[in-house]
Amino acid sequence: MSNRYKSILFVMEKSHKCLLTIIVVLILAIPLTAHTQTLKENPELDKKVKAFLQKNSQKWRDMNIPEPDGQLLFDIITKNGYKNALEIGTSTGHSGIWIAWALSKTGGKLITVEIDERRYDVAMKNFKEAGLSDYIDARLEDAHKLVKEIEGPFDFVFSDADKYWYKNYFIDVDPKLVIGGCYTAHNISDRQSGYRSGQGDFLKYIRSLDNYSTIVDSRGGGLSISYKK
Ligand SMILES: C[S@@+](CC[C@H](N)C(=O)[O-])C[C@H]1O[C@@H](n2cnc3c(N)ncnc32)[C@H](O)[C@@H]1O
Repeated sequence: MSNRYKSILFVMEKSHKCLLTIIVVLILAIPLTAHTQTLKENPELDKKVKAFLQKNSQKWRDMNIPEPDGQLLFDIITKNGYKNALEIGTSTGHSGIWIAWALSKTGGKLITVEIDERRYDVAMKNFKEAGLSDYIDARLEDAHKLVKEIEGPFDFVFSDADKYWYKNYFIDVDPKLVIGGCYTAHNISDRQSGYRSGQGDFLKYIRSLDNYSTIVDSRGGGLSISYKK
């Protein structure tokens, strides 16, 4: 074999190895980048929201979620980088504040719906005071109608309105929830799947679906967390 031919072979072998290394590095890097979310920093807003939550921590009286559930919703959204959220049952806005705060970091927005005018008005005031109004589209409407008619897609849903309608809400939202998205529902306990109730029927139904994996977190008021596969 001539020297020239040998050196061509050598270069080809080298560049092959180089190409192979690049491919391996890229393959390894894909899952890392897919799960690494760059969260927006806004220290002024963080300060405002924290001050609001602290000031009101003992004042939530309208069936609002407890703080650990707020933190849980916040963590699910920021960890997954969700951006298009729907909340069913605003009340006076405690959960909405945690969700919208998380969305302020992912660059997303929350649509939330409430049927009671007094609670809706208080929620609007609270969203403003917490500095989160820009991240929330709050609707005063019957969720039975809105959830059926609203256009998706959503990547995060929190269901916390009339419990007897939980399964119907889920059936209406399911086609609008993206794969990889998360459907959460409040006041759920594992024991409920054993007997008939709004929450029990919902939990049994969502657990029967192969394309959802569901866990129940009981640290607060009981939160079912279902990821769509
Ligand atoms: C448990 S509270 C929600 C608490 C809220 N997620 C929070 O943590 O601050 C349930 C709310 O759902 C509202 N609701 C009940 N049925 C509804 C319906 N059909 N449409 C819209 N809101 C409804 C109630 O008025 C009530 O304020």
